[in-house]
Amino acid sequence: MRAYVMSRYGGPEVAGLTDVPMPKVGPGQLLVRVRAAGLNPVDFKIREGKLRIIQRYRLPAVMGNELAGEVEAVGDDVTRFAPGDRVFARVPKEAMGAFAEYAVLPEDVVARMPDDVDFAMAAAVPLAGLTALQALRDELHLGPDSRVFIPGGAGGVGTFAIQIAKWLGAHVATTASQRGRGLVERLGADQVIGYTTERFQDHLHDVDGVFDLIGAETLVDSFAVVKPGGTVVSVAALPEPQTALKDLGRGRRLAALFWLISFPLRKAARRHGVRYRFLFMHPSGTELAELAGLIQDGKLTPIIDKVYPFDRIADAFTHLESGRAKGKIVVTM
Ligand SMILES: NC(=O)c1ccc[n+]([C@@H]2O[C@H](COP(=O)([O-])OP(=O)(O)OC[C@H]3O[C@@H](n4cnc5c(N)ncnc54)[C@H](OP(=O)(O)O)[C@@H]3O)[C@@H](O)[C@H]2O)c1
Repeated sequence: MRAYVMSRYGGPEVAGLTDVPMPKVGPGQLLVRVRAAGLNPVDFKIREGKLRIIQRYRLPAVMGNELAGEVEAVGDDVTRFAPGDRVFARVPKEAMGAFAEYAVLPEDVVARMPDDVDFAMAAAVPLAGLTALQALRDELHLGPDSRVFIPGGAGGVGTFAIQIAKWLGAHVATTASQRGRGLVERLGADQVIGYTTERFQDHLHDVDGVFDLIGAETLVDSFAVVKPGGTVVSVAALPEPQTALKDLGRGRRLAALFWLISFPLRKAARRHGVRYRFLFMHPSGTELAELAGLIQDGKLTPIIDKVYPFDRIADAFTHLESGRAKGKIVVTM
C-alpha cells in the first residue's frame, strides 16, 4: 500500500510517499481503509525530532495522527464495530500510521463518524477537536458565565476551541490577524483582538482561564490577564510535571525533568497567583463520539482550510508549516 514515511529525523526531505506492507489486524483491533487524514503541527514536530524526549519511533515509520475511513476487517474480541462502518480516530501516540491507504487501530480510540459528513471533514476532527474538549472542559472546567481567553483562535485547534467554549456557555475572547478575524467572529468569538496591531493585555483582565495555542511571549503575557486562582492551559509551550504523570503515564524521573524545564514558566505564573498546566492530549473513542454528536446536532462545524490529494501531501505539509492555516488541512486517499 502507499504510505507517507519518514526515514529519519529532519526537514521535509526525510519524508516521502512509498510502498509499504499492509498492517495486520490483531485482537481488539480494526483494519481501516483510510479515506482521509488530517495534518497537525505535531506531525512535523515529530519528524523534526522535537518530541523524542516524550516518544521515540522505530524508523522508518508511517506518519500521520488522525484519520477517517471505512472498517475493512475486525480482529477477535472487537464488539462495537463491523466491516463497512464509517469511523474516525486520533491514532495512539506511540503508533502514528494515518498517512496510508490502510491503518490498524485499537477499538477504544475509534468512534463512528457523524452522519452526513464526508471523510475529509471527519478526518479534520479527532486531534484538534479532542485537544480543545480536554483543555476547556476537563482542565479549565468552563461553564456558563466563565470567561476564557484563547490566543490563536483561527488555526486548527482554535476553530474547534471557540465553538466548544461557546457550547460550554463561556464568554470567549481570542486573537487573530486581519486574515482570521472574519472566521473567528463567525464561529462565535465574543471579543476579537488583532494580535498584529494590538496588545491583548490592554483589553483583557480577570478572565477565569486561558487556553494558549501560541506559547512563547504570548503565554507569559497571558498570566497577567487571569484572575488569581485561575489556570492557564497551554498546548504550545513547555511540559510540566503533570504532563509526565497524568498525560503520559510516566514516572517521577520525567516529571522531575519537566519540573526543571518548566520552572521559569511556573514561577512567572505564580507571581500572578495563576496555575500553569501543559496538556498533552490523549486519544479517546468515547470523547470523539461526543464530538460526533455535537457535529450531528449542528453545534460544532469542522473548519477546513484546504483538502489536498494524497499524492500532494508534501504540498499540504508546506502549507501547514507556513503556520498560516485557517482551520485544518486534510489529505484524501
Ligand atoms: N499538546 C497537545 O496535545 C497539542 C495538541 C494539538 C495542538 N498542539 C499545538 O498547538 C499549537 C496550535 O496548533 P494548531 O493546529 O491550531 O496550529 P495551526 O493550525 O498551524 O495554527 C495556525 C494559526 O495560528 C495563527 N497564529 C499564528 N501566530 C499567531 C499569534 N501570534 N497570535 C494569534 N494567532 C496566531 C495563524 O493566524 P494568522 O495566519 O492569521 O497569523 C493561523 O491561523 C501548535 O503548536 C500545536 O503543535 C498541541
